[in-house]
Amino acid sequence: MNQITVRTSSKTYDIFVGRGLRNDLLTYLNPIVKSKNVFVITDSNVFPLYFEEIRSVLQEGGYQVFHTVLPAGEEHKNMQTVLSIYEKMATAKIRRSDLVIALGGGVVGDIAGFCAASYMRGIPFIQIPTTLLAQVDSSIGGKTGVDLSAGKNLVGAFWQPSLVVIDIDTLKTLPQIQIKSGLAEIIKSAFIADKALFQKLKDSDHFERDVERFILSALQVKRHIVEIDEFEKNERMLLNFGHTLAHSIEKYHNFTGITHGEAVAIGMYCMQRAYEKKRKLQQVSDDIRELLIKYEIPYQLKHENLDELLEYTKNDKKSTDSGIHLVVIEETGKGVILTMDYPSIFEMIKGAADEICV
Ligand SMILES: NC(=O)c1ccc[n+]([C@@H]2O[C@H](COP(=O)([O-])OP(=O)(O)OC[C@H]3O[C@@H](n4cnc5c(N)ncnc54)[C@H](O)[C@@H]3O)[C@@H](O)[C@H]2O)c1
Repeated sequence: MNQITVRTSSKTYDIFVGRGLRNDLLTYLNPIVKSKNVFVITDSNVFPLYFEEIRSVLQEGGYQVFHTVLPAGEEHKNMQTVLSIYEKMATAKIRRSDLVIALGGGVVGDIAGFCAASYMRGIPFIQIPTTLLAQVDSSIGGKTGVDLSAGKNLVGAFWQPSLVVIDIDTLKTLPQIQIKSGLAEIIKSAFIADKALFQKLKDSDHFERDVERFILSALQVKRHIVEIDEFEKNERMLLNFGHTLAHSIEKYHNFTGITHGEAVAIGMYCMQRAYEKKRKLQQVSDDIRELLIKYEIPYQLKHENLDELLEYTKNDKKSTDSGIHLVVIEETGKGVILTMDYPSIFEMIKGAADEICV
């Protein structure tokens, strides 16, 4: 078992990482909770796999367990779902000292975190992430929220969890396409801040054996960035590498048929390739493409109309009147943040259309 402590200005909390940790939940939970009432939020895929086990562990520890099961999928990450959860929490008489448990992937984590942040002006919550993406990225750092029809994650709050328990064994039931989605975020971490992780990913010939050290490296990247810039004023924007185009790609496809990680992978390669082409370079984009090909993750735009896709970037919540904060990679392991106006971004991307579109 590995332990990483995250120290932010609003909260200090531990992340425990290992195999089978869901069975040891009480060891990590008991020291940090004040109340014996917990409200578990999970989704329809995770519920039949892990809920009963978690419930019996909690009940053995004397906890009274309430729960709600959300329909799985990004399309349910919205205010209607949040409102229905508030009602269920109120019916269960959940109070300020009680605890919310997010059991699932990033969608469950983002929704549960937002409910915890806003119900009774904020109650504690913990994360038990069950997708690779949630284990390396969304379960830590305290960004919570839901989508609007105008775009992704447009309503939310910063609300740090009190504990994160990462049981790597839950990945055994995760579909391969979701493993690749999480891998894309691990690859992102390598390019923005961890050249050694890039090398590990490149050298690895046994993913299941190496996944724990990939997760730990990616968590350390995120921990460091969140600690120095909890509220995304500067360095935390680096974590958005690939996300400007990714959010547009997801929106373009109406959040179906493409995972968040696949969209991030395409977003990373296309933006970096376009940037390097404009500067007459070609280094990092080759490295990105090499890793994405190795792990069989898509890296090019296929069916999208480029003009239409680029229009969606204007709805990105990182946009300002003068343009957008854009992350590119100076050298592997070193991301930088640029501010660019839309005409320049559009021109740069269209200039690389022959290479970034299939
Ligand atoms: N808050 C943040 O900092 C942050 C960071 C990155 C991404 N996100 C958000 O995370 C979301 C994506 O998260 P995700 O990729 O985990 O998607 P997800 O939560 O939709 O999970 C993907 C699929 O896997 C299923 N699943 C989950 N765990 C399983 C398991 N162990 N076995 C079998 N099936 C399982 C889910 O039911 C779902 O169908 C997006 O909404 C994105 O915006 C948030």
